[in-house]
Parts: sequence; C-alpha cells; structure tokens
Amino acid sequence: MKIIHFFTITIMSLTTTINAQQKLNPEIEKKIDALMSKMTLEEKVGQMNQYNGFWDVTGPAPVGGTAEQKYENIKKGLVGSMLTVRGVAEVKAVQKIAVEQTRLGIPLIIGFDVIHGYKTLSPIPLAEAASWDMKAIEKSAETAASEAAASGINWTFGPMMDISKDARWGRVMEGAGEDPYLGGKVAAARVRGFQGDNTFKSPLRIAATAKHFAAYGFVESALEYNAAEISTNTLYNQVLPPFKSAVDAGLRSVMTSFNTVNGIPASGDQYLLRDVLKNKWGFSGFVISDWASIREMIPWGFSKDENAAAKSAVEAGTDMDMEGGIYFPYLIDLVKQGKVKQEYLDDAVRRILRVKYELGLFDDPYRFLNEKREKEVVGSKANREAVLDIAKKSIVLLKNEKSLLPLKKSGQKIAVLGSLAESKNSPLGSWRIAADNNTAVSVLEGLQQYKGNSLNYVKGLELTKVEPTFLTEVEYNTTDRSGFEAAKKAAREADVVVMVLGEHGFSSGEARSRTNIDLPGLQQEFLEEIYNVNSNIVLVLNNGRPLTIPWAAEHIPAILEAWHLGTETGNAVAQVLYGDYNPSGKLPMSFPRNVGQIPISYNHYSTGRFTNKDNNVFWSHYSDVDKTPLYPFGFGLSYTTFEYSNLRINKKSFTKGEKIIVSVDLKNTGKVKGKEVAQLYLHDEFSSVIKPVKELKGFELVELKPGESKSINFTLSDYEMGFYNSQYEFVIEPGTFKVMVGGSSDTILSQNIELF
Ligand code: BGC
Repeated sequence: MKIIHFFTITIMSLTTTINAQQKLNPEIEKKIDALMSKMTLEEKVGQMNQYNGFWDVTGPAPVGGTAEQKYENIKKGLVGSMLTVRGVAEVKAVQKIAVEQTRLGIPLIIGFDVIHGYKTLSPIPLAEAASWDMKAIEKSAETAASEAAASGINWTFGPMMDISKDARWGRVMEGAGEDPYLGGKVAAARVRGFQGDNTFKSPLRIAATAKHFAAYGFVESALEYNAAEISTNTLYNQVLPPFKSAVDAGLRSVMTSFNTVNGIPASGDQYLLRDVLKNKWGFSGFVISDWASIREMIPWGFSKDENAAAKSAVEAGTDMDMEGGIYFPYLIDLVKQGKVKQEYLDDAVRRILRVKYELGLFDDPYRFLNEKREKEVVGSKANREAVLDIAKKSIVLLKNEKSLLPLKKSGQKIAVLGSLAESKNSPLGSWRIAADNNTAVSVLEGLQQYKGNSLNYVKGLELTKVEPTFLTEVEYNTTDRSGFEAAKKAAREADVVVMVLGEHGFSSGEARSRTNIDLPGLQQEFLEEIYNVNSNIVLVLNNGRPLTIPWAAEHIPAILEAWHLGTETGNAVAQVLYGDYNPSGKLPMSFPRNVGQIPISYNHYSTGRFTNKDNNVFWSHYSDVDKTPLYPFGFGLSYTTFEYSNLRINKKSFTKGEKIIVSVDLKNTGKVKGKEVAQLYLHDEFSSVIKPVKELKGFELVELKPGESKSINFTLSDYEMGFYNSQYEFVIEPGTFKVMVGGSSDTILSQNIELF
C-alpha cells in the first residue's frame, strides 16, 4: 500500500501578488500603427471576420454565404481569417487571394482544431493528462503543431482547459480533468508545445488558443451549450487558474465559450474578457468567439438583434467573430453612427494584426506553405514514435488481482473479445478532423505482434448499430446478442480473456453529453455472461470520460483504463498488457460510483457534518451509496509497488515569499522498474473563504529501479500557498496548513506530525 503522510506548516503573513503583463515588441507595434493608419473602417471590420472553410463543422453556417461569396469577400479585404481550410494547396489558394488580390495584402491567419494531433493522433487530451508527464505532453503538442504547421495551419484552437467535475459532459475528453493545479501545468505545457519559445522563428510552431473562456465545464446538468451558474470562489480558484497559467506561458489567443457565466453570455462578458483577461492579466493576444457564439447571444435573450450582439461582444473584448456573420457587416454602421467607439474596434484589430506579425505572416505569408515539408513532416516515423510514447504513458492501471497482468509472454491461451478490440477507428477518439478514418493500430493488431501465446479473437458483441461519425449521434447496439455464444466458447477455452469495452470514440466530445455513463449498450450484460464462464478477465476500457463501472470494479480482476489513445493505440495497449511498459498513469478525474454522485471531485469542501462522529443518520452522506468515488483523482497502480517515508520540511515557520521545501523518500518496493507520480496536497485549515479538504499543489514523476529510493523535494511558493478571495485578489492568509503526500488523492493517512 502507498502511504500518505501529512503535517502542518504555519504561515505568518498576508500578501497579494502582482500580475505580469505580456510584453509588446515596439517594432511590431510601429508596423501595426503604420498599417492601421491606411485601413478603412471596412477593412478593419474585415480583420475581425473569420469564415469557415466552406464546410459546416460543428454548427450551422448562418450567414457566411456560399463559397463564392466568401471568396469575393476575401478579395475585398473583408476577411481576416479562415478556419478548417487545410493542406498546403488549399491554404495557398486562399492566402494568395488575401495577399495578392486585396488592396493592402494583409495575410489571413489560418485556424484549425488541432486538439490531439493533426493527422498522426496522440491520445485524447484527458488521457494525456493521466500521464502527469509535462515533458511528454509538451512533446505531443509539439508533434501536433509540426504536422499542422506543415499543412499550412498557423493557429490552433487548443488547448482546451475547461475544468470539469461532471463526467456526463462530453467535452471532458478535450481537457485535463477536474483539478486546476494539474490543469494549469498541462495548459502551460501544451502552450509551450504548440508555440515553442513564442518567437515563431520555426515554421513548425503555431499560435495556441486557450478555450473556452470561461466556465464551460460547469454547464448546468452537463447539458451542452447551457448556462453556468457558479460562485466567484469556484470561478477564481478553479476555473480561471489554467487560463492564467497559459497567459503567463505566452499564449496568443483565447476563445470565448458558448455558455453564460452567471447570466452573461461569455462572448459578451466584459468583466471576464476586458477586465480580467486583457487588463488584469495583461493578455496582448486576441480573443476569438466560439462558432457563431456572438450571434447566439440573440436566442440567449441577451442581445435583441445583430447590432446589439455586435456592440456587446466588441465592447466586452471579443476581437474576432467565428463564422457568425455579426461583426461583418453590422459593426461598420455601428461605428459610423457613433454607437460603438472606434477605440474598441482598433483594439481588436491591433491584437489580430499583432499575432499575424508575430507569426511572421507579413514577412512571408507563404512561410507555412511548403509542399516538400508537408510531405516530410505529416505522418512521419518520428511523429508516430512520439504519439506512441505519450499513449503508453497515458494508460492507467485501475485494478490488478490474481496476477493477471502483465500477461505471460508464452504458453497462454488468450481470448480477445469485443468489437472495440478490432476497431481502427474508435481509438482515434473525437476531434480529429484532419486524420483519416480507420488509421489507428487496433488493440488486436497490437496483441498479434506478441507471438508466444495463442490468440483467439471473437468479436462477440458489435458495439454500435452503424459506424458513427463526428457529425452523427452514436447508436449503441441494444438488441443483437447473436455473438455471445461464440464468445463464451472462446472464453471457456482460454486461460485469460482480454475484453475491450467502453465507449465509441465519437461518444465524447462536443454535443455528446450523456445522462448514463455505464458501459453503453449490451456491454455490461456481455461482460457478466463471459465472467460466468471464465472470471480471468482483463478489462481494457476505451472511453473519453470517467465511466461508472461498480460491478466491474468489484468482480473483474484486472482493469486497464486505455481511453482513446490515438494512432498508436494497439501498440501502446499491447506493450502495457505484456509488461514491456510498466503503467504509470494516474487519473486526472474521479470515477464516480454512480451518476447521482456527479459533480464529484477530490477537492470538494468539508461540511459542518463531514464525518459521522455521532454515529447517527444526520451527517453529510448518501443513504444509498458511499460518498467516495469509485476511483479517485490521482489514483493509478503499477506492476511494482512504492513506499513513501520520512516526510520532512526545511523549517518550522515561514513568512511571505519564503520557499517551503517539503521532502519525502520514495522507494520502489517491488520487483520491476516503475514510475510513480508523487503527489502533494495542501489543506488550509482556516481561511476567510472556505477551502477544499485538499488541493493538489505539487507533483513529481519519478522512475525507480527495484529496491531503489529517492528523496523528492517539493517547493511551495506563494502560488501554492495563496488563493483568490471574493474580490479576486490573490492573498496568502496566515495560519496552519496540513501537507499530505502520497500516490493518490485518497491514500490512507498514516502519520500526523504537528509542528506547532
Ligand atoms: C467548438 C470549438 C471549436 C470550434 C471550431 C466549436 O463548436 O466549441 O471548441 O474550436 O467549434 O471548430
């Protein structure tokens, strides 16, 4: 068992921190001044207008017009950006019009949803967060950026950094899970991966977008495109920190969200966009709306017509209108009539031009458009290796009894069951517009590379009625059990049964909220029937969100969380199943026991009746199910074991600004080499605003050989010790903090050292 230790730290003084502003390049600013002095009002509004590349992706294309009309508008200098146009040839065609046929020749900035890879796919972002490996996550974003950039893309609509405690919400697959600290680290790593050193000297780096600003992960009932009603405490301390980390890492753009935040549609939220993001955080890049989200302020009942929507959004600080047909043309008259101040428009245009200059598009509008580079980079061997690396690191071992894993390399009869085992499509996950269908290595193909065992694949159950797409609803098979008997026969004859079950890759992502997150379709029934003939089951889960699997957790001896791992899925899963890679992932999101526990997270608050000390019914609990999650945040096993000991601290009391060093010894007590994510949690015992029972404030990924020990040092600075109060001031309050260290957020506390 992993042991968690805790003890206390006392902080003596109160402080606030200062927000760094993003720095401007004076030369670029001068060039922008010169260019803007030549621009007409129409051309300025044109820069704020983004068209989709002639394809309805995730929503209706309201008034962008036909492809011909869009081309005409590009020629007139009335378009600043395109999205979803991709590939050197296609991008060159539109860029040439902007550069060579418009009056001022201002290049387009080309955006695209590079969410977990471009053509070569990494694991879905939630899975990557399970690696807790910031270098690997950065490398994955870098790989994605290189392929996208080589295909003519300048700017990605990622990383998504919406914190969410609601596994019903389909979009949790795009983010880093439930925790703001881990989310902030992942956000910064992804921004570094996409943008590199922020100079964009390399033509293989692209501008990143933090999305969705803000609180989209808190939409009511997990219903898509819905309202978010959240406290300032949650907004400031949980939702905003990853965005702030991304801005501090030099992020160049931010996307608004579809939801309202406490009654205001995010694309018209002046407080969030102008006051916090642009003024307080000093963000110098630009804000893009989500798909037609400015227009959607009308049906929200916030803006009475297009003019009102345009005015609210530009004043709030939304700089570019994605496929909404609102800024162009409505802003033109609004400014002419003096209803919208020119300065709002100028601020927006300046920001957009700034990023275009920074990307080098004015120096060479074709710098991302090199056919030879496109051929060399997209789908390269190096990129496949990079995504395999992160895929292995993203897998989480949830249970391993009866020594089923790792599988023995010879002499075993293995039955492989479930249509997901052979799927080359589902493992690619959602959000993979540029990738070709059916290009993943399937789990079956991965297993087939290990020749020492006899492998018998029987589908047994078809997961879906038809193969779903990004644009269709997933229809699970709920009637056809015709394969069960053959599967049972194979299971009976096998030593070990590997069952690949879960959700189809298109069951999560945008507009894929579910109210039931059990194994969908007939899979639970299938699992139980197989269990009845052979209980030596290794359950390999494929899913884009936490699932509720209490029966499996109780009965199935080995469970591997393999998410949707992208192009190299089968190789990654096989290497972990056979022990060639020792699993090291830890859950970035709690797995609930049932859907009624949602929202659920490890960093919840205490209550006045948190424990049942009076042993009566009147305490904070559920009558029908334990209140803890099935698998907590931070949890994940290994083929080896680790022991924590000797927790210590460099001093007894601290004042503002002093670094606190917490150290612990970690030992690999098992028989094989392995990696462990040592996690540090803090609890501020008393504060002016109540604090969660524990909050992640440090982690370290350590590799140890059998028997090897290492001393790990965590450094706690003001950032870790402070929080945002109800005025959105960052404060550090004096008092006592409990420090907990262990291999999971829930690991049993075994030691309590009071320092004061
Ligand atoms: C999504 C965004 C995405 C945009 C462009 C919207 O529907 O919410 O996350 O970037 O479409 O594809």
